Amino acid sequence: MKIHITHIVILVLLALGVTSCSQVSDDVKETGFHGAGFVNPSSENFHGKLIQTRNYEIQGCTNCHGIDYNGGTANKSCNTCHNKVNGPENCTTCHGSVNAAPPKDLSDNTSPTIRGVGAHQKHVLGGTLGAAVACGECHAVPQKIYSMGHIDNSLRAEVRFDSTSSLFRTNATYNVADVSCTNTYCHGNFNGGNVNRTMKWTDTIAAVTACGTCHGDATKATLKEKAFPQSGHTAATVTSDCSTCHRAVVDASLNIINPSKHINGKID
Ligand code: HEC
Ligand code: HEC
Ligand code: HEC
Ligand code: HEC
Ligand code: HEC
Ligand code: HEC
Repeated sequence: MKIHITHIVILVLLALGVTSCSQVSDDVKETGFHGAGFVNPSSENFHGKLIQTRNYEIQGCTNCHGIDYNGGTANKSCNTCHNKVNGPENCTTCHGSVNAAPPKDLSDNTSPTIRGVGAHQKHVLGGTLGAAVACGECHAVPQKIYSMGHIDNSLRAEVRFDSTSSLFRTNATYNVADVSCTNTYCHGNFNGGNVNRTMKWTDTIAAVTACGTCHGDATKATLKEKAFPQSGHTAATVTSDCSTCHRAVVDASLNIINPSKHINGKID
């Protein structure tokens, strides 16, 4: 009888084991193997959508697809399609394209008027006004996808300004509710700048980069008047062109000739 009971217990345990296994495979849907549409981005059953609902956890896929996503027991490699460094764990798989910053954002949006996209590329690429701004100025940057603080439960990126940066201001804030920034150094929080300035991450680039918006007065007529700082300069002291004294930054027509010396944390 004892033996019988043991058998029953074992059978029950096996049954339980089988149940939890079939839950796992149910999860990944079991018709050839994951079901129709698993590689079709417009299908409801697309693997990208499944991954989103699992809070971007993809380590489990390596159980069958191999530790380096190269095929494993499933004999189907992820890296044939995800052919950048580190395969699906590449920094542009879930957000970004040419670099890791959106667009595309996590929901595949590409318009700068959507908060996930915003003014990313203008910052991370830099341009005629200033040099590139590193991700680390605004975010904690993960070394790997499973680094602490990267993919957490909020599913909204955390914005935190880098307190070790020369561009850091203690009173600079990012307001999650309306995606606005206030008191950042770059946009006016310096002696002679337009302090207390607030702008939105989704504002049009032109409105935020017009001459006179960060220092001076954008409504004035000439570039010289527009860029004229709030303090430190008077009409009497600025009898010459701005370029007489700031020649590393601007030319006589007030073109920014060296973006890496403008908005760099010091007066050149
Ligand atoms: C339990 C094992 C198992 C797990 C876990 C698993 N897969 Fe698969 N997957 C397979 C098998 C087996 C195939 C190949 C059979 C087929 O094509 O029907 C496959 C095929 C695929 C394909 C199609 C590849 C192609 O070239 O056609 C994709 C995409 C895929 N899996 C993605 C994933 C993702 C993403 C995960 C994690 C969320 C995952 N799989 C987890 C077993 C698994
Ligand atoms: C047949 C090609 C193909 C295979 C094989 C494939 N993927 Fe994908 N995967 C795609 C496409 C296409 C996208 C969508 C890309 C986009 O939206 O720009 C995608 C998106 C993703 C995303 C982003 C999800 C999101 O919504 O941001 C992840 C993560 C991912 N795949 C992981 C995997 C993993 C893990 C495997 C292997 C287990 C795999 N993929 C196999 C084609 C493939
Ligand atoms: C000037 C500041 C700034 C810089 C630089 C910056 N970001 Fe962001 N990032 C933001 C803001 C603001 C948001 C929107 C957060 C929100 O939704 O509240 C954001 C959101 C994101 C998101 C979430 C997108 C979504 O779909 O919600 C990702 C991913 C991201 N950033 C990655 C990066 C990466 C990678 C870099 C560098 C290549 C970078 N960011 C550089 C400010 C910045
Ligand atoms: C599997 C999908 C996936 C991959 C691959 C991925 N990320 Fe992310 N990333 C996310 C998600 C989701 C968020 C928004 C999340 C949050 O905070 O929960 C995010 C947010 C970010 C942010 C904004 C700050 C934050 O953590 O909120 C940065 C910066 C970032 N990722 C950089 C990277 C870098 C660098 C890599 C490559 C090492 C990378 N990501 C690879 C999904 C991914
Ligand atoms: C006679 C030399 C001189 C001329 C001409 C001059 N600047 Fe300056 N500028 C300076 C000095 C010196 C500083 C640094 C002041 C300080 O450290 O407080 C400065 C600082 C600045 C700053 C930083 C804010 C501030 O007030 O400290 C801005 C912006 C600026 N100048 C713009 C301009 C523009 C625009 C013009 C032309 C309208 C101009 N400057 C003409 C000498 C000059
Ligand atoms: C996005 C904000 C922003 C805009 C727009 C802007 N500036 Fe500046 N500018 C700054 C900051 C910040 C400084 C403070 C010094 C530094 O960090 O380089 C500065 C400083 C300067 C200086 C002093 C030299 C120096 O060290 O940089 C000159 C000259 C100047 N700006 C000219 C201009 C002109 C001309 C325009 C319009 C074509 C303009 N700026 C538009 C942010 C801006």
